[in-house]
Amino acid sequence: MNILFIGDIVGRAGRRAIREFLPEFKSEDNIDIVIANGENSAGGFGITAAVAEELFGYGIDCITMGNHTWNNKDIFSFIDDEPRLIRPLNYLPGVPGKGWTIIKNGDTRIGVINLVGQVYLEGNNSPLMIFNEYISRIEGVTDAIVVDFHAEATGEKLAFANCVDGRVAAVVGTHTHVQTSDAMILESGTAYITDLGLTGAIDSILGMDKEDVMNKYKTNLPGRYSVATGDCKLEGALISVDKDEGLSCNIKTIRRTNKF
Ligand SMILES: [Fe+2]
Ligand SMILES: [Fe+2]
Repeated sequence: MNILFIGDIVGRAGRRAIREFLPEFKSEDNIDIVIANGENSAGGFGITAAVAEELFGYGIDCITMGNHTWNNKDIFSFIDDEPRLIRPLNYLPGVPGKGWTIIKNGDTRIGVINLVGQVYLEGNNSPLMIFNEYISRIEGVTDAIVVDFHAEATGEKLAFANCVDGRVAAVVGTHTHVQTSDAMILESGTAYITDLGLTGAIDSILGMDKEDVMNKYKTNLPGRYSVATGDCKLEGALISVDKDEGLSCNIKTIRRTNKF
């Protein structure tokens, strides 16, 4: 089974990259399930019901979130009714939505877990402690499990992945919007990459307008960031999962663009 995991979709440019590149890619590479991080998909901050529907319409099966989950208040209107969209499982108790879900492909059930790191992203429970609390019940109802670990620190992502190696088919990092070159299969069969990268405008700072970000950097004055425009790219990783083992045999990074 081939799972395509797509890095943070940033605004309109990111959605355009999905619309332009995903359908062809999906048929060419025999992709069974598509999972994407959508925490920046509406104007760079959060998600709306309309944007989620648009992304599902392009062929995305499951959307994960991150530290920008609540930025657009529209999410509160639909998160509890949308099983294909999840937010970090290790948020504090009492918040809306769910932190894991099951995506079906034929008879195969893929469990998707979303977690958020603690380094520079304070206010969440320990991702490992919460993973250990939930994993046996998720294993009981799925054939394989993949994790979007949304975090800033490379060391935290690697430490978590090695702690759960052999328990899940994949741990993929999101949040930094910069694709790393360390895609690998860990010792006990878990596919890993520190960060999937950016799906959005190429000529940008992490998907946002360069002038906006530079002005903030130069003056530290408050200001609005807008999503960058122009040529776009889709970044992520393609993972081959052995559904009988619940582990992975291959992971490779992907980048689709018509610019280069
Ligand atoms: Fe992001
Ligand atoms: Fe993030």
